[in-house]
Amino acid sequence: MIKQEAMEVISSTRIAKDTIEMVLNNSYISNKAVPGQFLHISVVGHTLRRPISIAAVNQAENTVTILFKIIGSGTEALANHQVGSSINVLGPSGNGFSIDELTKEDSVLLIGGGIGVPPLYYLGTVLKEQGVNVQAVLGFQSKEYVFYEEDFIALGDTLVVTNDGSYGHEGYVTDLVDELDEFDSYYSCGPAPMLQAVTKTFPNKKGFISFEERMGCGVGACFACVIETKDEAGYKKICQDGPVFAASEVSL
Ligand code: FES
Repeated sequence: MIKQEAMEVISSTRIAKDTIEMVLNNSYISNKAVPGQFLHISVVGHTLRRPISIAAVNQAENTVTILFKIIGSGTEALANHQVGSSINVLGPSGNGFSIDELTKEDSVLLIGGGIGVPPLYYLGTVLKEQGVNVQAVLGFQSKEYVFYEEDFIALGDTLVVTNDGSYGHEGYVTDLVDELDEFDSYYSCGPAPMLQAVTKTFPNKKGFISFEERMGCGVGACFACVIETKDEAGYKKICQDGPVFAASEVSL
């Protein structure tokens, strides 16, 4: 159940260009969150909350880690929060990745682009605990934006691609298909063009995609986050029905 909670800032670290990793303390959120869910964060001086994915959870310490990129005054204000200050959040929000059916025999591919990488890290840690075989492809604009490479390597084989070739492979996540081991299903999060390319690259694989989306209310009331689907209704709300969808159910 989504609740409005105060979360204390435990740490705030710039881990790549314009990219902040923030650890927040709250027992309710840390005990309820599942991979793929997000926090809808209130920012001082801004009417709309900011949806930020959960990158890690430590239930023993009641902490939740989020990562966000500074792209405007809202995220700048969020980044300015000092250790010990309090952030107002709604969460845990949305529906997470479907992983209950996975077993130790399964092999999954995680495909993340930019700020779509963090929720896949949380997912990867949970899958690893379940004994699922994990490999990852992470895409970034350039070397200065790369983060969490070592963390993903600890989970399984990991490839990094940068659009300008300044680090790892050059190009896009879908350019590395020939480098991958066989896998049963994929989980992807990133900008819509990347998700479109991913679903086209693996048309016959079972896949789940998570959308980065600007939202309004974040609780299904304003229709600001609607996405076209292939079912009878023809649409779903990313904030409430997603942000994770089966790749086969949405029209990209
Ligand atoms: Fe308002 Fe999704 S953000 S319905």
